[in-house]
Amino acid sequence: MDLVTALENLLVELEAGLQKAFSPEDMEVLRVDVLGRKGRLAQIMSRLPSLAPADRPAVGQAANSVKERCNAFFKARRSALLLQSEAAALQRFDPSLPARAPWRGSLHPTTLVTEEVCGIFTEMGFEVASGPEVENDYYNFEALNMPPDHPARDMQDTLYISDKVLLRTHTSPVQVRSMLTRTPPLAVIVPGKVYRRDSDLTHTPMFHQIEGLMVGESVTMAHLRGTLTAFVRGVFGAGTEVRFRPSFFPFTEPSAEVDISCCMCGGRGGHKDEPCRVCNGTGWVEILGCGMIDPEVFAAVKYSDAVSGFAFGLGVERVAMLKYGIGDLRMFFENDARFLRQFA
Ligand code: DAH
Repeated sequence: MDLVTALENLLVELEAGLQKAFSPEDMEVLRVDVLGRKGRLAQIMSRLPSLAPADRPAVGQAANSVKERCNAFFKARRSALLLQSEAAALQRFDPSLPARAPWRGSLHPTTLVTEEVCGIFTEMGFEVASGPEVENDYYNFEALNMPPDHPARDMQDTLYISDKVLLRTHTSPVQVRSMLTRTPPLAVIVPGKVYRRDSDLTHTPMFHQIEGLMVGESVTMAHLRGTLTAFVRGVFGAGTEVRFRPSFFPFTEPSAEVDISCCMCGGRGGHKDEPCRVCNGTGWVEILGCGMIDPEVFAAVKYSDAVSGFAFGLGVERVAMLKYGIGDLRMFFENDARFLRQFA
């Protein structure tokens, strides 16, 4: 067989061989066999010296062109295999699969409790109201029966903006504002931020309160107790017990602090060797302050003697800590996503 025919056969065989090559490894075996140093092309070329000198240039040229075409065959096969693998990957993609659920935010526990509490009271007929966080001394203290020299002002460390303007220390000033803009009977529930100069493990400079207020003819302490019992059972469960302890606030008379049976130990106080951490083994936890609106407050808003009313104020973070068993107040303000996600 002459050398040119041998070269042409080599091309035909390579083409057939490539059709059976499916991996880079297959291709490499073939390349070494055809184009390698001791491969088929090299073997054919080793017979060149046996030709008559005049025939050698033509065969040399043919060999070069066969080598180029071999390389082109390899290249074409490589791209064909790449296309095939991409098509296969596309076939594995199933567009009917459900999408991965996107990350969703969740409401902050402070918001959850605020919404829940306000929901319970609006269901009972209360109207949601609000007031300014930057407040006049008059609404925050004076109209609430705390004149400038009143010792009760020491109960709260206040952040002052100026002599007469401050960051409200409680939501109680909205009692005064609500009564000034309404006529009895009225019932309002007031969520909002309040500010104090405390900052330690159990106090933050800003926290949240909810104030409640009901005024009308012959509103009594029984109404207060019934309303608060309904609220407490709505938030902490139907079995929750309520206890009133006598207390003092300048803007209510009489005043009380309300305890609920501990939601952690069910009011049993834990074991005597290991008292409940939440209620310190007493079975009760304090939840809010309340009382019958003091006549001095009614006088400040020029309400007649014929009305009576009750008011109460609670700490939202405190309720959330009890409800969700959160042991550390700082959790509410650090906004660690791992904490917040648990309320989704
Ligand atoms: N304002 C009080 C405080 O911040 C809470 C409070 C107590 C509000 C008794 C009331 C109330 O309306 O009647 O500690």
